[in-house]
Amino acid sequence: AKLDQLNTLGFTAQASWLVQAEKPEDLPEVFDFASSQALPVFPLGGGSNVIFQGNLKAVVLQQKPHALEWPEIEPDNLILKVSAGYSWQQLVLDTTSKGYFGLENLALIPGQAGAAPIQNIGAYGVELADTLQAVEGYWLPEHGQPAKFDIIAAKNCVLGYRDSRFKHDWKGRFIITALQLQLSKQAEPRLGYADLQQRLEEKQQQPETANLPLPQLIAQVVTELRQSKLPDPAKIGNAGSFFKNPVISQQQADELLKLYPKMPHYPATNGCKLAAAWLIDQCSFKGAKRGSVGVHDQQALVLIHTGGGTAQDLLALAEEITSTVKSRFNILLEREPELVVV
Ligand code: EPU
Repeated sequence: AKLDQLNTLGFTAQASWLVQAEKPEDLPEVFDFASSQALPVFPLGGGSNVIFQGNLKAVVLQQKPHALEWPEIEPDNLILKVSAGYSWQQLVLDTTSKGYFGLENLALIPGQAGAAPIQNIGAYGVELADTLQAVEGYWLPEHGQPAKFDIIAAKNCVLGYRDSRFKHDWKGRFIITALQLQLSKQAEPRLGYADLQQRLEEKQQQPETANLPLPQLIAQVVTELRQSKLPDPAKIGNAGSFFKNPVISQQQADELLKLYPKMPHYPATNGCKLAAAWLIDQCSFKGAKRGSVGVHDQQALVLIHTGGGTAQDLLALAEEITSTVKSRFNILLEREPELVVV
């Protein structure tokens, strides 16, 4: 089965098998089939955070989305269950248009809900961890333990900056089938980041948008901000930010700030967080082209693929960027999307 349309970078790749599970209860059968073929199962969401390098000798699993279930009377505080295959952006539209706060700053993030906890998606000062209550899913059999369905509390998932246990000790062991999200009609808007506050005030003065629920308005503002700097994966192949924003020691940051007083920097728990986009931009990579891959001309953190290229081409550009940033700033950038080799 072809995967070309199933990864937003648009690389050519084949899967041994592509199966769609209608419901979580179908998963045991999918795993039985995979083991009869002696192949691993690779769960795929929207394909917006993966780099396919060659063919996948795997049973690629997709999960069917299920309609959200809304109570007849909507309470102010609600725990909403969303199936893994549900579109993240559709979820943001559905919840914010009903006046629920929680996901408005996370508008226009590509992909499916089930992938969101893996890298704890985040934008504009908010991350999934702020609303995630629990993750539902299926533990694979191991060490003589049978497979089982389970519900994991969010606090056990160790959600961090673009990180969770699903990337480490739980990698390949648990299939996420649904999320439970804590939403509220009373929550406070979070507008501290970028120029959200100012853009929101403009919207509140326009007659066509003034009466929309506040979370929906915020989601619209975030959508417009993202559209102004991030390429639409339907038009230009990309996987969002290609590197994580690096955290360095306060001492190293202070030394750099003497040389570059305008360098963006943010407090972090274990030091100082810098903007990888700024570091890459300083090395003049913005808008760079290397054949069919390049650096987006509006956001230096986003690598693009314009068609006909391979993961190797993209990784070579990433390596060129990483080594240039390393020699100029002595900072090692870490890749964000997952390189898939099975
Ligand atoms: N900047 C530059 N050059 C550029 C782009 C940005 O110097 O080409 C500077 C900006 O002036 C700003 C700073 O870098 O001071 C940060 O830029 P921006 O606000 O655009 O955010 P970011 O740190 O580059 C992160 C997330 C994005 C998220 C935005 C908004 C990561 C790896 N990326 O980007 O997430 O949308 O903040 O909150 O944390 C993603 O993960 O795929 C993603 C798009």
